[in-house]
Amino acid sequence: MTKTVTTATEFSMTNENPFDLDNAEAYQKWRDHKLAGYPLSLQQLVVKIGDIRAISDQELKALKRVIRQHNMVVYQLASESQASKAEIRQFARLLGLDRIDNNICSDEDSITSLQVSDSAQKRIYIPYTNRRLSWHADGYYNPLDKQIRGMLLHCVQPAVKGGENMLLDHEMIYIQLRDENPDYIRALMHPQAMIIPPNNEGEQGDQIRGEQAGPVFSLENGTANLHMRYSARSRNIIWRDDVNTSAARAKITDLLDSSPYILRYRLGAGQGVICNNLLHNRTSFEDSDAQHRLLYRARFYDRVADTAIAGIMNQVNENVIS
Ligand SMILES: [Fe+2]
Repeated sequence: MTKTVTTATEFSMTNENPFDLDNAEAYQKWRDHKLAGYPLSLQQLVVKIGDIRAISDQELKALKRVIRQHNMVVYQLASESQASKAEIRQFARLLGLDRIDNNICSDEDSITSLQVSDSAQKRIYIPYTNRRLSWHADGYYNPLDKQIRGMLLHCVQPAVKGGENMLLDHEMIYIQLRDENPDYIRALMHPQAMIIPPNNEGEQGDQIRGEQAGPVFSLENGTANLHMRYSARSRNIIWRDDVNTSAARAKITDLLDSSPYILRYRLGAGQGVICNNLLHNRTSFEDSDAQHRLLYRARFYDRVADTAIAGIMNQVNENVIS
């Protein structure tokens, strides 16, 4: 009989880690569980929220259940009446998203207003334009001790046209890569797999951030939760010069074009995505004089509570999908 693991810390010491390349048995069990979640319709990802100021235990459970399986959920507020940034921050806290990341373009409360900006400082970054945003996981340029594990995107107002997101659970891309060649995973776990050069776009060429090298796939210390650092942009990224890294990178590019697990969604006013920082992109969009696309984005060093791999493996072993 399989031992039941009670804590995440204990988990990383056991032989139940599906991300251990030498553990085919745990991997197969976890893989079957993930694949059972597909095909996935968007309706299965949507959880309705009655009042963001008074989230019920049932709503919280439903949100976590969807994220536990798919690393993401789409919430839908009951009406288009908007939530304030403070209410969104409190909502995130209920899901264990607390340690918020501050970036150079975020507002004073550390929640970023994503909209077309006239500011010269912001305009150099694509998120603050109406241009297409290529596939990435957030914060891939952050230091390794400040990786983004959880993220919330709330739509205040959609664009007149465009501005759709594509979403891909990073664990599904892990499965597709590992099934093709486990050496791809080994190469992508190398600490020099992907290097982001320094950002010298500050005033008078000041350095905003130093060089940041790191793996694409890593397991969080203590919990063994899978994390993915990735950007599809070809400029300003140095990939390790190695046969398997190049082949793995080409395979990722291919999958981001054709994976059957990609979901496409256009958030409406009062809707949002909460995720364990998975891969996403954004199409270009058009605003009008009367309607400007505005999304609030909050990034966290925390993963959504109760979605750790330890708990998922307990669930898999007990064969209970709660
Ligand atoms: Fe993003």
